[in-house]
Amino acid sequence: MSKIWVGTNWKMTKTIAEGISYTKELKQIANELTSTIELFIIPSHTALVDIKKEVSDSRIKLGAQNMHWEDTGAYTGEISPKMLDEIGLDLVELGHSERRQYYNETDAEINKKVRAALKYGMKPLVCIGENIDQKNNEISQEVLAAQLKVCLKGLSGDQVKQVLVAYEPVWAIGENGIPADAEYVGEIHTFLRRTLIEMYPNIGHEIPLLYGGSVNLDNFLPYIDQKDVNGLFVGRTAWNMETFTILLKELEKHISE
Ligand code: PGA
Repeated sequence: MSKIWVGTNWKMTKTIAEGISYTKELKQIANELTSTIELFIIPSHTALVDIKKEVSDSRIKLGAQNMHWEDTGAYTGEISPKMLDEIGLDLVELGHSERRQYYNETDAEINKKVRAALKYGMKPLVCIGENIDQKNNEISQEVLAAQLKVCLKGLSGDQVKQVLVAYEPVWAIGENGIPADAEYVGEIHTFLRRTLIEMYPNIGHEIPLLYGGSVNLDNFLPYIDQKDVNGLFVGRTAWNMETFTILLKELEKHISE
């Protein structure tokens, strides 16, 4: 697998104006990167239309942070895949741990969203991760395999080729997160790769497996050096253009060595 996926979910942090100026800066950096790096950004829904205009003459891929699975209906406050399709997105993030934790999203719902995204030609970026109790009880692998199996349930090999998976241990995410050891990340990714190959013997090895959770300037290289890590899903370190620029340039240098 040659491509390295690097992207950021802005969560609820940037206004439209802030998002536009961020994207203008990122476009300049993107121009200097080799095509091995697949760069993507995931703004808030309110900024998507404007950011789409910004990225349309660039190689930056654009995604949404969530969506409903129905095309239309009485679902107050929700955004449908058909609405996102009107904007023209490359991907949609589904099942982030904050969606699971604060809005009770389940794997079965995420599965419906995955199918809806595929119907509209958007790549589902499916987030999975164990919480600290599950890790301490040594059931991380069982939990992750179950999440993967339910979220991808019923997909054909051709469909699953479009999917990206992000492993984000809940205990490693955000301000209070504890960065995972690279070795642990490597073991889990190898387990996820094995599970995907069991599920899809012909395609399982092709599905990009991204790592996320307190990825920072001190740990991103050890993470990316793990055999089955095919990309990085970055929060805080990528929201700041200065640190994101350093990360991208160092990554570029590292992979060209
Ligand atoms: P973080 O966020 O890098 O700020 O921990 C990661 C994520 O939630 O995807």
